Amino acid sequence: MRVALATVAAILFFVSVQLALAEDIRLAPGDNKDNYESADYHTDSLALPQRIGAPADLLSFATRKQTGLPAPQHPANNQPDAQKIALGRKLFFDRRLSRNGTMSCAMCHIPEQGFASNELARSIGFEGRSLKRNAPTILNVGFYQRLFQDAREFTLEQQVWSPLLATNEMNNASIGQVIKIIQSAEDYTGLFERAFKQAPNMQNIGMALAQYERSLVAADSAFDQWLYGGDKSALTDQQIDGYELFIGKAGCVNCHLIGTQTALFTDQRLHSTGLGFQTSLGDSDSPITVQLAPGVFTSMEKARVESVGEKKPNDLGRYEVTLNPADRWKFRTPSLRNVALTAPYMHDGSLPTLASVVKFYKQGGVEHELLSPLIKPLNLDNDEQSALVAFMQSLTGDNVSTLVADAFAANNDRAHNNNKAAINRTAE
Ligand code: HEC
Ligand code: HEC
Repeated sequence: MRVALATVAAILFFVSVQLALAEDIRLAPGDNKDNYESADYHTDSLALPQRIGAPADLLSFATRKQTGLPAPQHPANNQPDAQKIALGRKLFFDRRLSRNGTMSCAMCHIPEQGFASNELARSIGFEGRSLKRNAPTILNVGFYQRLFQDAREFTLEQQVWSPLLATNEMNNASIGQVIKIIQSAEDYTGLFERAFKQAPNMQNIGMALAQYERSLVAADSAFDQWLYGGDKSALTDQQIDGYELFIGKAGCVNCHLIGTQTALFTDQRLHSTGLGFQTSLGDSDSPITVQLAPGVFTSMEKARVESVGEKKPNDLGRYEVTLNPADRWKFRTPSLRNVALTAPYMHDGSLPTLASVVKFYKQGGVEHELLSPLIKPLNLDNDEQSALVAFMQSLTGDNVSTLVADAFAANNDRAHNNNKAAINRTAE
């Protein structure tokens, strides 16, 4: 009887793996969510058996020009190299790089969720601590001149130390501690020495992670094929209408730039749309809607919610970097490439859909003295709003699923590493 059951289980497992293999890697959640997902709740996370990867040629993505984007740029002292990229990828998915071995970069920049987090407005880090901002995608992050939504950092090489050390992110006690974790992990033996001709140190850890991030280039979207590739059938009529609005009456292109040869969809500058100002006015004391379980909501008094939760911190945007009152609530214009994959939107993830973002701009953002003069109420009917959304949906790079599959391949390494780490910890 036991043998028969084991055989049935083995067959079921085999069939499910085959089904998973047959399916597009981004299409469906892996768990059986029958009677679980509802109109209000949907998840794109994949169960482990479905996270089947295939390594990609990341070096080619790091070096090749894709239609619609400039050729990737790399600092003189950190030129793309396959070994360094592979090492960065290993680090990015390695949960041991947090103080208690639970949190990797990829847990907030989730590959199958557009390298962002679709299910959280604001990130949750070490031991459930809340962050005040939404996790942005790291696809195409190599094209930003300044990093973070308040533009406080300048290079990817340096940026990595913020999440590695922040108490509410990966919470390492010191730089030296991170280096020690890597040095004492058997599976890193020789990797830094081969890639950098040096033992792991503060610089080359940042360099490796930066190389992996600069390989996550995703353009050559339907829009790029249409505008730059000369394929006039790549966009639908509705998307073309949306493009006309984007560069015309809706004025989006004033900040989300589109050039004659390439489009970054960002001016790299900081503006206030009024969203941060609105939040700073404080929520009213009206009851808060709380989600108890997927699709199950209840209304609770604000004071009661605050008595158990963490109060949402104030976010003054660029002001927190410069301390200049004129910079209050200013955030860097995000690129809109792959934006269909990276909901929810804005620095605090407060707008759940692209339609809600368009509605926000239609009303002219939120009026206040620091509102960008480029944002004004827009006269857009429903069809025009839908066209803008459809246009933004044409900006998804054609290689995203390749990058996701590659990330899943790293995940296999990670499962292996974690086993080893667990063994090492017990041995200590
Ligand atoms: C707990 C969740 C979390 C973890 C873990 C995390 N990040 Fe982030 N990441 C965020 C959030 C939230 C932001 C936006 C913060 C801001 O703008 O102030 C961000 C911003 C970034 C940015 C800047 C993006 C931009 O548009 O300018 C990069 C690059 C980045 N993270 C890379 C990493 C790397 C590399 C790691 C691992 C070493 C990592 N992150 C770990 C949540 C996380
Ligand atoms: C004044 C410059 C400016 C104009 C004009 C503008 N935007 Fe933005 N956009 C921004 C800034 C700045 C943000 C980030 C705001 C934040 O995080 O709070 C943003 C955020 C967004 C986001 C969210 C992206 C994400 O990843 O969270 C979308 C989508 C967007 N804009 C679309 C549009 C559309 C569509 C239009 C035209 C109707 C438009 N924008 C006009 C500056 C602008």
